[in-house]
Amino acid sequence: KKKVTVHSLRKMKQQGEKITMLTAYDYPTAKLLDEAGVDCILVGDSLGMVVLGYENTTRVTTADILHHTKAVTRGVERAFVVADMPYLSYHISKEEAVRNAGILIQEGLADAVKMEGGSVMFETIQHVIDANIPVVGHLGLLPQSVLREGGYFIKGKEEKEIEKLKNDALKLQEMGVVALTLESVIADVAKEITEALEIPVIGIGAGKDTDGQVLVFHDVVGLFHGYIPQFVKQYAQLKDITTKAIENYVSDVKSGIFPDKEHSFYQKK
Ligand code: KIV
Ligand code: NA
Repeated sequence: KKKVTVHSLRKMKQQGEKITMLTAYDYPTAKLLDEAGVDCILVGDSLGMVVLGYENTTRVTTADILHHTKAVTRGVERAFVVADMPYLSYHISKEEAVRNAGILIQEGLADAVKMEGGSVMFETIQHVIDANIPVVGHLGLLPQSVLREGGYFIKGKEEKEIEKLKNDALKLQEMGVVALTLESVIADVAKEITEALEIPVIGIGAGKDTDGQVLVFHDVVGLFHGYIPQFVKQYAQLKDITTKAIENYVSDVKSGIFPDKEHSFYQKK
């Protein structure tokens, strides 16, 4: 199994091979995804909502992401691992941004970090890239802006917004980001941006014409209890299966069916 790199991702785009990405937040899930052939694993700050029980992603800290990135990279042999830079880890100063990104690489063993934002973040992102840290850009819907925007809104509907998206994407490429995530963007706009760029564009709710797709693991396997966006396709309903299993366990213990002889130890006579 050859490790996926910035180089091989670029090659996949050139050869028209779709790139697959899913989130993982722990060792067993990372191992599962890696062995199933997922190209990229994202330790997303969706961690906050999916695993830590927060209302949105703005509560997640660098320490949270680091803790989970360490677990994920221990389980990965092949996939390219991207760690999200959480809210406030790159907003205070360029220096703090490099420090926090560096920690996710050096201690978390991530292959790259992901940073949300367009023009207002350019200076910071450039500083991190100049420190030799691979950065994945993130444009379109930016979940870390949810409090300021007052909700989650689809991007790329108005001409001015489309122009800004295209310009930001081109500029990020010029600055040296290794890939770009486009979230909740009108499909035609995402297609245009993908065709205009040489770096891989990985979409979530951005239609079929991006170079790759990313989704949240818990959404894909039906393990999340909260709101499921329209762009999510559920490939399993593990919540139902797991609930059933736990109910059976509870009932077996209560009624004395478990443990039986098969699951107990006895002295050999
Ligand atoms: O945190 C996350 O899961 C993400 C993806 C939705 C792209 O950033
Ligand atoms: Na994220």
